[in-house]
Amino acid sequence: MNDTALLEAIANVETEMSDALAKSSSLFETDSAVLPDSGEQQRRLKFSVSKTRFATAPNYSHSLWLADMDCVPPSSLAASVSSFMAGHFGYQDIDIRRDITDYLKRDGTIIKPEFIVDIASVVAGIALALRTFCETGDKVMVVSPTYGPLYSAVTQNNMTPVSLFLSAEYSDIDDLDRFDPEARALVLCHPNNPTGSILSPKAQAALLARCKRHNILVISDEVHREFHFDQYDNRLPPVPLFGYGVGDCAHSNVISFCSTSKAFNLAAIGGASYAIIANPSLRTRFIAAVDNEHLEAAPISKIALQEAYRSHRCWQHEIVDCIGTNRAYAKRLLGLMKKENTISLNSASYFLWLDLRQLFSGDILEACCRRGVIVGNGAHCHAPGFVRLSIACHPTVIKSALLRLFY
Ligand SMILES: Cc1ncc(COP(=O)(O)O)c(C=O)c1O
Repeated sequence: MNDTALLEAIANVETEMSDALAKSSSLFETDSAVLPDSGEQQRRLKFSVSKTRFATAPNYSHSLWLADMDCVPPSSLAASVSSFMAGHFGYQDIDIRRDITDYLKRDGTIIKPEFIVDIASVVAGIALALRTFCETGDKVMVVSPTYGPLYSAVTQNNMTPVSLFLSAEYSDIDDLDRFDPEARALVLCHPNNPTGSILSPKAQAALLARCKRHNILVISDEVHREFHFDQYDNRLPPVPLFGYGVGDCAHSNVISFCSTSKAFNLAAIGGASYAIIANPSLRTRFIAAVDNEHLEAAPISKIALQEAYRSHRCWQHEIVDCIGTNRAYAKRLLGLMKKENTISLNSASYFLWLDLRQLFSGDILEACCRRGVIVGNGAHCHAPGFVRLSIACHPTVIKSALLRLFY
């Protein structure tokens, strides 16, 4: 297709999707809302480090490497947080467990409030769980490719990561032969950042049974669970907690980590995170470890969680609906560019996970940067040649980024 024909075909897609794209365009900011040189550009990490981390990217680059969304969180969150700050000081004791059980219950997940342990950060919580339940030198399976800090949590604690690869669709375990019965723990991201994939209930049950048989603790990072879609990119209820609903007590050797940071775009205040631990003896040890390291969630982020979980379900649904639109739009554009075979866009997340090995040679991250698209480096997820693009952004940015990469 020549350039004019492609642009015409894109215009036709945009006409077909006009209502949905208009909605998405109204929720997500364009690059020009934060560029050039606004105070926001200097402060927002995804822009501020461009010059140092991605030195070859031109000034006009789209910055799509980070996992945050180009939309402001619900405005009443700021009001709740500031009114709390105005009236409270000193250490605070705020119980968020009921808010969390109520939030989960709305999608059919029933857990007891006492299962919940609040924590200041998911990554720190995973590292702490590894230190609490494993020893230096232990082997830890990591379902791969996945979010880089999960590997680092293993290596930084002087444990040995063993990659357990899954099929691209991630609907089933296709590499259980590499399952290491000597490992002390298995770490996974579910749904998986960057691939957006989810294990089927059958695969979850098989994996959990095998872990249980060998007394292997399962540590699951579930911070992207709210971004869940059907094959037409319509919003689905959040991905069920790992191991829940797949068999009796399947989750008794699982620690799940969730947070508000992604679902409500609250990275700016460190969204309250929490672990869900059904097994009482694991929980008691973990609570003691959190206490020991003063790693409880900050009161201010608990206030934000309460406000988000109690009052902003509709806001979240709107955002996830718009991400569904962006996913469908990106797929249509890649189809028109005949690049569908580069992309994995599984059932969850707001990322395009692109296999660029056939397209660019040499340093692929560099090639994308030179074209004016700053992407997440697949090598950090143990998948060199792949890149991750956030599409929780204005549709015009998606179009421009894909044209720059592929045309
Ligand atoms: C899978 C996953 N886990 C954890 C985190 C870190 O989340 P937080 O900033 O809330 O600690 C991220 C952030 O990108 C993530 O994608």
